[in-house]
Amino acid sequence: MIIYYTGTGNSRYCAGYLAKELNTGTLDAFNYIRDGIAGEFISDEPWVFVSPTHGWRLPEIFSDFIESACFSGDRRAYFVMTCGTDIGAAGRFNRKLCERKGLEYMGTAAVVMPENYVAMFPVPDEAGAREIVAKARPALNRTAETIGAGERLAEGAPGVLDRLKSGPVNAAFRRFIIGDRRFTVSGSCIGCGKCARLCPVGDIELRDGRPVWLGRCTHCMACICSCPALAIEYGRASAGKPRYRCPEE
Ligand SMILES: Cc1cc2nc3c(=O)[nH]c(=O)nc-3n(C[C@H](O)[C@H](O)[C@H](O)COP(=O)(O)O)c2cc1C
Ligand code: SF4
Ligand code: SF4
Repeated sequence: MIIYYTGTGNSRYCAGYLAKELNTGTLDAFNYIRDGIAGEFISDEPWVFVSPTHGWRLPEIFSDFIESACFSGDRRAYFVMTCGTDIGAAGRFNRKLCERKGLEYMGTAAVVMPENYVAMFPVPDEAGAREIVAKARPALNRTAETIGAGERLAEGAPGVLDRLKSGPVNAAFRRFIIGDRRFTVSGSCIGCGKCARLCPVGDIELRDGRPVWLGRCTHCMACICSCPALAIEYGRASAGKPRYRCPEE
């Protein structure tokens, strides 16, 4: 069974692609995360967790979702992490997560997809994104073949820098960078509520038809990238940049 979490669609696309190749189904973790429900899942096929990379690790809300869920049946667990460039030493943490859950860790694949972190980095326009997605398909095919054959995903040994990025830098990133104080909304807001509906942690409330952020943000980028009126900015960092949604969603 393929279980995915996504902010801007890359991981949903990859989950769907793998599902077709593996002739299996997908499950979106969104409602479980949003409603704080501990999932109970049964599968006679290996578990495949597909997710974005946040600070060289699984996003905290997705690893918490896995941590709190009950997985019955097959004990094998694969991880597929979509990323803009690299996942650091994320595999080490995924292995430890499996140990805590009594799952057999089968490896982590990094799949380079378009960057979506509009609050921090440049993101590609639609044409550029389509090119990057096309280049990701061979990696997805290889990953599907390995999973289909029941083999372990090949992982290089992480270097010192990778361990630093996924360890102390990740901790600092979560503590000092992730937050919603810099979100603003302009007069073009049409009060549609899409930003609030898409937020995986219920961080947005509409007051007098305009979004207000409540301090629980995880920086998934769903709100700022999905606003139909382009009314949301993140300080000056997002000004003038295209908004990113996976073009193949
Ligand atoms: C908060 C945040 C942190 C990120 N950290 C990383 C990272 O450590 N390494 C990386 O290569 N990409 C990083 N990215 C890029 C995303 O992992 C990448 O674009 C991913 O495919 C987005 O998936 P989604 O569309 O399913 O949310 C980050 C993006 C965000 C929003
Ligand atoms: S998605 Fe955009 S237009 Fe809709 S309520 Fe949110 S900020 Fe306003
Ligand atoms: S406030 Fe926006 S960026 Fe933060 S978690 Fe919610 S949807 Fe994601």
